[in-house]
Amino acid sequence: MTKPTLTALAQSLPASVPFVGPEAQERQMGRPFAARLGANESAFGPSPKAITAMQKAAGEAWMYGDPESHDLRQALAAHHNVTPDNIMVGEGIDALLGLLVRLYVDAGDAVVTSAGAYPTFNYHVAGFGGALHTVPYEDDHEDPNALITKATEVSAKLIYIANPDNPMGSWHSAAIMQDMIDRLPAGCMLVLDEAYIDLAPDGTAPKINPNAPNVIRMRTFSKAHGMAGARVGYAIGSAEVTSGFHKVRNHFGMCRISQAGALAALQDTGWLAHVQSQVAKARQRIGDIAENNGLTPLPSATNFVTIDCGRGGDFARAVLAALVAEGIFVRMPFVAPQDRCIRVSCGTPAQLDAFEAALPRALTQVHEKLG
Ligand SMILES: Cc1ncc(COP(=O)(O)O)c(C=O)c1O
Repeated sequence: MTKPTLTALAQSLPASVPFVGPEAQERQMGRPFAARLGANESAFGPSPKAITAMQKAAGEAWMYGDPESHDLRQALAAHHNVTPDNIMVGEGIDALLGLLVRLYVDAGDAVVTSAGAYPTFNYHVAGFGGALHTVPYEDDHEDPNALITKATEVSAKLIYIANPDNPMGSWHSAAIMQDMIDRLPAGCMLVLDEAYIDLAPDGTAPKINPNAPNVIRMRTFSKAHGMAGARVGYAIGSAEVTSGFHKVRNHFGMCRISQAGALAALQDTGWLAHVQSQVAKARQRIGDIAENNGLTPLPSATNFVTIDCGRGGDFARAVLAALVAEGIFVRMPFVAPQDRCIRVSCGTPAQLDAFEAALPRALTQVHEKLG
């Protein structure tokens, strides 16, 4: 029997996926993790008001969601003091990145990112045949100057940067980001991923200019709002840029329940403040646990702490594997020299108790094995 063949591009792609989920690891281990601290989810959960709204919407799930996400876009526009035309809602930043790449990157078009930055962008670039150029981190920070220089050199159409950054937790000030925006080469758009912005110090986000044709900001309800499983993200950009999404997006992609939950979450500023304070406490505690075990926590403007294990990638990979074997789900940067670190999400006190108990055991095992 004959069958259709994959496109040449699809055939050229690796079979690997960017993330192996903790569920897959649990199935492999035959037991659940004691603490889920690897995916930068918010263990503090969604706003109780968002949960109520989602419960109510569950009964209405026989209806498709509003394909325009009208109410949520109106509320987001008011929140950011822009017009609804400046907002594009999608199934998480991850999906919006894919659509953006589809809209702007033809086969062979150059784009720029940092080696070891959040990898979903790269995955989409590969999927559309773009040419990905990378620059190294500088001192555990993404490097705006190097990104601009490389983008100029290769005539990049897009530069991707996350501020604050995952996996390092580092961040740049609004002034540095604005300077980067001001220096973008002609024909190049900045994709500014602000997934963690609600957890960063004031003065991290540059002012939103809804008319800038060369900047698109990405935000999400997955982090501080605690709704990763609901898949709600949004882009803020000029009306011209955001309207492009309508040409390629999945029109009924936004789950009705998720739209209702995000709308309620946005309005519950009290819950956001609660999560921000829990995250600050958890960051401090993870840092203390790291230091008590002779490791070095890096400063973080996110809902995770990246811990420098003090030796190379092999050592950090062994620590990670030992923690996983102890039932603690954590992840780590992929690329040297950042791969000397492990990355621990801000968990509840009980989850961090489990991490605190497991870390010294994990380190002992690794020292026994590697010396
Ligand atoms: C920098 C960054 N961007 C985007 C995402 C994913 O966002 P979403 O859940 O909205 O797809 C993550 C999740 O870890 C992230 O770290």
